[in-house]
Amino acid sequence: MTTVDERDLTQQRDRDRRFHLHANTNPTRFAETGPVMVRRAEGVYLETDDGHRVIDGMSGGWCTNVGYGDPRLVAAASEAMQQLSYQLTFGGRTNAWVADLSARMAEVTPEQYDQFFYASTGSDAVESAIKIALYYWHLRGIPTKRAIIGRDLAYHGNTIFATHLVGSPDAGKQYGFPLTDVVSRTASPYWYRFGRDRDPGEFGLDAARALEAEILRLGPDNVAAFIGESIQATLGLIVPPDTYWPEIRRICDRYDVLLIADEVVTGMGKTGRMFGFETYGFEPDLFTLAKGFTSGYFPMSCVAVGAKVGDALRASDQVLAHGFTNCGHPVGAAVALANLDVILGDGLVERAAGPIGARLAERLAELTRHAAVGRVDAVGIIGSVELDLSRIDDSATIADSVAFGAEVGEIAWSLGLHARPIGTTFGMMFPMIITEDQVDAAGEILHAAIERATAEWSARR
Ligand SMILES: Cc1ncc(COP(=O)(O)O)c(C=O)c1O
Repeated sequence: MTTVDERDLTQQRDRDRRFHLHANTNPTRFAETGPVMVRRAEGVYLETDDGHRVIDGMSGGWCTNVGYGDPRLVAAASEAMQQLSYQLTFGGRTNAWVADLSARMAEVTPEQYDQFFYASTGSDAVESAIKIALYYWHLRGIPTKRAIIGRDLAYHGNTIFATHLVGSPDAGKQYGFPLTDVVSRTASPYWYRFGRDRDPGEFGLDAARALEAEILRLGPDNVAAFIGESIQATLGLIVPPDTYWPEIRRICDRYDVLLIADEVVTGMGKTGRMFGFETYGFEPDLFTLAKGFTSGYFPMSCVAVGAKVGDALRASDQVLAHGFTNCGHPVGAAVALANLDVILGDGLVERAAGPIGARLAERLAELTRHAAVGRVDAVGIIGSVELDLSRIDDSATIADSVAFGAEVGEIAWSLGLHARPIGTTFGMMFPMIITEDQVDAAGEILHAAIERATAEWSARR
């Protein structure tokens, strides 16, 4: 059999262009450009069919924590698939892999988390966490608590309820949303955009207290939960001030509002602790995991349930009327277990907290020599570069900085780095196996890309 490596992929490119309805893609532009076909990936590198090789500073969709092609995950999937290719876990049935995974999750999470629900994607983990939160208030006999508060610039997925929680004025417009009045929104702790003339710690406290004001506006008896990503990612890579999360926890406790941490991006070691909430010093009542939960080798996500909700679930005599065909899939569980073994066994969290994280912080700090760079943040292997053309030209708008970011992204791709412009930030999340030399190479490319984009922008003015 000819491998994909050896094949001429012209035919597949044409098939893709004609028959594949692409997610998050503009069809008119796609008809002109056709697909970019990735032929293969290995370690931290992606290679397209024309032989262009790039460092994947996006770790796929922020998910390939252990890098590409790790034979240990491949073997785990293959063994499980041969023995038990599928099993339905409804009604108390189970399989050995998901039982072992759950026990392992209880070990690697803080003590209060001792029940784990499984789904397939980040979006359905978020939906599940919200349904579990609403079910909790039903069990407690307070059904008025229905409102879910999200944040500006938040992203929690693309299913219908999760889309309602996306903190952008455009979210759901194409679908006639909102369909529900139980979602509301509070401020983002985006210091550079909304508070850079202030002390970051004070700004963080005020951003948290905006939640308190929203709870009081809705009435605490009507609010079920607050949901937030410990580091906002999809609509701007926004690192919160350290004061923010402990204050959010205090406010949720004060008004008996459940705190859901969406750890779909920040979970599984990227921040230099196993979970982002550990980096920020708080414990949520429920948290979600996906993406790095299986490093993208199999679609599987998880909701971790803490003591407050978990005790009520355990005491209930009702059926938890929620589940998906693929809950607790044996192959997904086998991959998640192998993924955990690699992350912990190879010391990837320590690397993110230690030498690799430090190297990334150094390389990013060097970028502040560019006038167009307003601020950089590095947390573990997550990096954020705030691009701000108004520092060069008073008349430059936010839209100019967004367009500039897109240009930096394209130049970086051509020079061998895949990284993502997100709003006015330029975001990176490297596979956690990245070496110091590869971080240096990525830093050099970013430097060159910002330099070239700045020169081109200046020439156009
Ligand atoms: C914080 C967060 N939650 C949820 C999701 C949705 O995950 P998925 O695309 O797997 O549904 C994402 C995706 O980027 C995310 O960033």
